[in-house]
Amino acid sequence: MATASEVLSSFDVEVIRRDFPILERKVNGYPLVYLDNAATSQTPQQVIDVIVDYYSRYNANIHRGVHALSQEATDAYEHARQTIQEHFNAANPYEIIFTSGTTHGINLVASGFASLIQQDDEIIVSALEHHSNIVPWQMLCEKTGAALKVIPMTQSGELDMQAFEKLVNQKTKLVFVNHVSNALGTVNPIEEIIEKTHAVGGAVLIDGAQAAPHIKADVQALDVDFYVVSAHKMCGPTGVGVLYGKEEWLQKLPPYQGGGEMIDQVTFEKTTYAGLPHKFEAGTPNICGGIAFGAALDYLNTIGFEVIATYEEELLTYATQKLLTIDGLRIYGESKHKTAVISFNVGGIHPYDIGTILDKLGIAVRTGHHCAQPIMDFFCIPGTVRASFAFYNTKGEIDALVKAVQKAVQMLS
Ligand code: ALA
Repeated sequence: MATASEVLSSFDVEVIRRDFPILERKVNGYPLVYLDNAATSQTPQQVIDVIVDYYSRYNANIHRGVHALSQEATDAYEHARQTIQEHFNAANPYEIIFTSGTTHGINLVASGFASLIQQDDEIIVSALEHHSNIVPWQMLCEKTGAALKVIPMTQSGELDMQAFEKLVNQKTKLVFVNHVSNALGTVNPIEEIIEKTHAVGGAVLIDGAQAAPHIKADVQALDVDFYVVSAHKMCGPTGVGVLYGKEEWLQKLPPYQGGGEMIDQVTFEKTTYAGLPHKFEAGTPNICGGIAFGAALDYLNTIGFEVIATYEEELLTYATQKLLTIDGLRIYGESKHKTAVISFNVGGIHPYDIGTILDKLGIAVRTGHHCAQPIMDFFCIPGTVRASFAFYNTKGEIDALVKAVQKAVQMLS
């Protein structure tokens, strides 16, 4: 296996940073230090150019017109679908459904399962979920009478897999877990979860929103039933994402929305639906967004996911060591398997107060419950300060963060 320095031998973060025009700006008179990548990533010029090119040269509706612009837009959109298929190693392009993002993908599956779930069935989620992977399943349970079970978490912010083994049984129809926790960065053992759920005949949906920017998931190797992601966490635009679904499941699920493009024949007596993927793509989609998502994946793959993960691991280790030198600072989420996310508090200081001072010094972090209130309840805290890193961040920026937190603590103590 290659060492970290061999993997990073041709990686130069200063060269990469030149691709991101936003990193040159100042905030409150200080150079921007953008450490809120788990909320949304920044966009490289290569992707911005694709967006400008679309609106400057071939903006048109897709799958509808015989004219040249419509054909060009359709070709570019379907090419992006293929790029995404190859990236996640889906068996077929029609198993890639364009959505408006992860939340849309989860709701599409949850709504579809309303017709496949019965009263005595059980659905399992984990204690580490984002609200978007809790609320749709609660709504499904309310509709169907199925029971919602929760895989508990441990003090280190990991899933209690022994408890999972006891929860999963013949009544388990669905298991929903994130690949990576947005609040703590924990990488969950999804391979084991998928295997054990399949052994009892259940299906698994993995929320890949926080994993996809760091880990290249192979949906066939994972044998996962559904995998959902958002483009904007992966250097693409907001308002677009994909749902990967195994063909057999996508055939079983009913359409999510009715409208144009998702039909085969419409009469007032009866409508028949289009085949995959169009059955799930009613209305005019985010065409430019889909094309730009493909470009974002091309960009990330040019750098390479091994390089990205190795560099981010270095940032995580460096930031963890430096932050822990601050008196009273506690990090939440201490799994050995983490992406570059650090959630912390200092003494009894409210995370919002620290975040506000960091912002005054040009440093962008997220504060609060991170749409994961059950995790905050578990630790009995209102929220955390969360610094989340990307491959374009530097150790110098981490030094600036540590200095700014020290200053905030001085001011607030
Ligand atoms: N889910 C995103 C986050 O964790 C918005 O910040």
